[in-house]
Amino acid sequence: MTDPVISIEGIAKRYGAKGHPASGGASTTIFENLWLKVNRGEFVCVIGHSGCGKTTILNILAGLDRPSEGVVLVEGRELAGPGLDRAVIFQGHALLPWRTVLGNVAYAVSSRWRRAPKAEVEERARRAIAAVGLAGAEHKRPAELSGGMKQRVGIARALAIEPKMLLMDEPFSALDALTRGTLQEEARRICRDTGQTVYMITHDVDEAIYLADRIVLMTNGPGARIAEIVINPLAADRSRSGLHHDPAYYSLRNHLMDFLVARSSAFREAPPDGYDPRHPPIVTLHHSQSGALRAMT
Ligand SMILES: Nc1ncnc2c1ncn2[C@@H]1O[C@H](COP(=O)(O)OP(=O)(O)OP(=O)(O)O)[C@@H](O)[C@H]1O
Ligand SMILES: [Mg+2]
Repeated sequence: MTDPVISIEGIAKRYGAKGHPASGGASTTIFENLWLKVNRGEFVCVIGHSGCGKTTILNILAGLDRPSEGVVLVEGRELAGPGLDRAVIFQGHALLPWRTVLGNVAYAVSSRWRRAPKAEVEERARRAIAAVGLAGAEHKRPAELSGGMKQRVGIARALAIEPKMLLMDEPFSALDALTRGTLQEEARRICRDTGQTVYMITHDVDEAIYLADRIVLMTNGPGARIAEIVINPLAADRSRSGLHHDPAYYSLRNHLMDFLVARSSAFREAPPDGYDPRHPPIVTLHHSQSGALRAMT
C-alpha cells in the first residue's frame, strides 16, 4: 500500500531561459524529467554529486523555489509556496540568536497553532526539546550552545510543528563524527516512533544506509536524472554500531559507491536500455546461490 505525501511529477530546473538578455540565449538544464513519490512514514535519502540539483529540489519541495516545468503535489494538491505542513532542517540551523532554546522552538509552535494558549505552546516546545535530549538547556541562547546542540534545537523546532514532511539538507555534515552518530540515532528513533515522513540529502553513504528506507541516486548534472531507487535491504531494527556485521551492508555500500564513482557520470552518454524517467529502475539486492548479494532491477 502506498500513500504518497509528496509526488514529484516531471519537474525540471533551467536557468537563463532562451531569449533572456542576461543569458545570451543559452539555457542550462540543472535537472529534468524527475518523477518521485515519497510515501507516508518513509525515510528517503538522496545521494548525488555536488551540483546535480539536490538542494534545488529540496527548496522546491519546501516551496522556496519553483520548478521550470512540472509540478509537485502534497497530499494530492499542487504545492503553492512554503507552508507549516513541511519543516526544513538546514545545515546551518538558522536559530534566532536573541531567543532562548525554548523561545526558538516555542516561536515555531506558536506560528503553527496561532490560537493555542501560552501554556500549551510551551508544553509542546518542552516535549520536542526533551525528545532531542536538551531538557535542562531550555533557557540557554544559541551562542551558549555547541554545534551539535544547535542542530538539536533545529531538529526540535522542526518536529515540534508536527510536519507532514521533514526536509533535511545535509543536516549533520558540519558536526564531529561522534555527535553526528548520536544525532543520526536520535533522528532515526524519533522519526520511526512518530511515523515521520522524511526527505533527506546526504553526501555520506553510511548515513544513507543507516537512515533510509529507500535511497534515490541522482546522476551528475547538468541535465541530472534519477538513475535508480535502491531499496535498503537491512533489517528495520538495525543499529548504527552493528551495521558492519551485516553482510548486506557491504553489498549495498559497494553498489552505492560504484554508482558515485562510475555510473553517475556514465549515465548521460549511455542511459540503461529502456530507461523511463517516470519509473526509474527499483534496485533490490538479492541473495544469490553463492550467498552474495547482487543487484536486481
Ligand atoms: N540562480 C542560479 N543561476 C544559475 N545557476 C544556478 C543558480 N542557483 C543554482 N544554480 C546551479 O544549479 C546547480 C544545482 O545547485 P544545487 O545547490 O541544487 O546543487 P546540490 O546538488 O545541492 O549540490 P551540493 O551537493 O554541492 O550541495 C548548480 O550547478 C548551481 O550552480
Ligand atoms: Mg546542496
